Amino acid sequence: MNHMRDSNPAYHIPVLLSEAMDGLNIRESGVYVDCTFGGGGHSTEILAHLNADGRLFGFDQDADAKQNSLNDERFVFIPHNFRHLQRFLRLHGITAVDGILADLGVSSHQFDEPERGFSTRSEANLDMRMDKRQTLTAETILNTYGEQQLQEMFSMYGEVTNAKTLAKAIKSLRNKTPFRTVNGLKQAIADLVKGNPNRYFAQVFQALRIEVNDETGALRELLEQAPAVLKPGGRMVIISFHSLEDRMVKLFFRNGRFEEKEEQNPFGFSPSNTPFRTLTKKPITPSDTELSRNPRARSAKLRIAEKI
Ligand SMILES: C[S@@+](CC[C@H](N)C(=O)[O-])C[C@H]1O[C@@H](n2cnc3c(N)ncnc32)[C@H](O)[C@@H]1O
Repeated sequence: MNHMRDSNPAYHIPVLLSEAMDGLNIRESGVYVDCTFGGGGHSTEILAHLNADGRLFGFDQDADAKQNSLNDERFVFIPHNFRHLQRFLRLHGITAVDGILADLGVSSHQFDEPERGFSTRSEANLDMRMDKRQTLTAETILNTYGEQQLQEMFSMYGEVTNAKTLAKAIKSLRNKTPFRTVNGLKQAIADLVKGNPNRYFAQVFQALRIEVNDETGALRELLEQAPAVLKPGGRMVIISFHSLEDRMVKLFFRNGRFEEKEEQNPFGFSPSNTPFRTLTKKPITPSDTELSRNPRARSAKLRIAEKI
C-alpha cells in the first residue's frame, strides 16, 4: 500500500522526527493525532508506521497548512485549533486514541512568509495570526493593551529584560502614532533595545506571537483533555520551543496539574494524582547532526508520557 504523498520540507523541516516516533511507540492499527500538522513531516512518518486499519487526524489552525494535506484514506485534516481536540475527534466518531503528538509554535512557512508579520526581517502589517479567522492581531495588542498587560506579556513570553520600560514606552508612543507595521514598531522602540538588537526584537516578536495566538492557553487546554482522550498505555509526545511551555508539559505530566507543589494533606504526604507515567526525566533535545542540518531545531525539547 502506498497512498502516501511526501510531506513538504520546503514548508517546514520536521524536528526530532525519529525521537518523536520512538516516543509514540506506534501501534500499527492505532488511532493517532498530530495536533500541529504544518508541512506534514511528522504525519507522513506516523502513516508510514500504520497498517491499513490505522488512522491519523491532523489538526492545523492555519489555512495554509491544508495545501500539504496527505492524500491517504487513513488521514483526516482538521482545520481547527487543537484546543478543541476532544470535540472534533467526537465529530469523527473517535472517543479514545493511541497517541497524541504536538510540535508547538510556528512553522518555517509562517515565519518566512513576509506578509504574515511573524518575522522581524520583513516589512509587513503587525498581524502574527496563525488562524486568520480570529480578530486579535499584534497590532490590536500594541494599540489597546494596558501597561501592566503589555509588561507581563513581554516579560513572561519574551523574557524581555526591560519589559516594564518597554510597556510604558509603547503606551505613550501609540498616542502619537498607532503601531501598524513591523518596521514602524522596530523604529519606534529602537532606543529601548538592550543588548543585541536582533535578539531583542526577536524576544519582543516572540512575546507578541505567543499572546496573539494564545499559545499557552491552547497548550493548557490540550493537556487537560489528553487524559480523557488517550487509551491506557497511549502516548503523548510534546515538542516545545519555550521554557514556559516545557515547564507546563513537565509539571502536567508529573503532577496532573500545572502548579509546582502538591498540596499537603493532613497526614503529611502528598500523593500524586497524575494520570501519566513520565518517560522522559530530562527532555530530549536535537543531536548535533540534526542541529547542523536544521538550526531552527535549536531550542526544541521533547517530552513523552504514557497514560496509566
Ligand atoms: C512547528 S509547526 C509543525 C510542523 C510539523 N510537525 C511538520 O513536520 O511539518 C506548528 C504548526 O502547528 C500549527 N499550530 C500551532 N498551534 C496550533 C494550535 N493551537 N492549533 C492548531 N494548530 C496549531 C501552526 O499553524 C503550524 O503549522
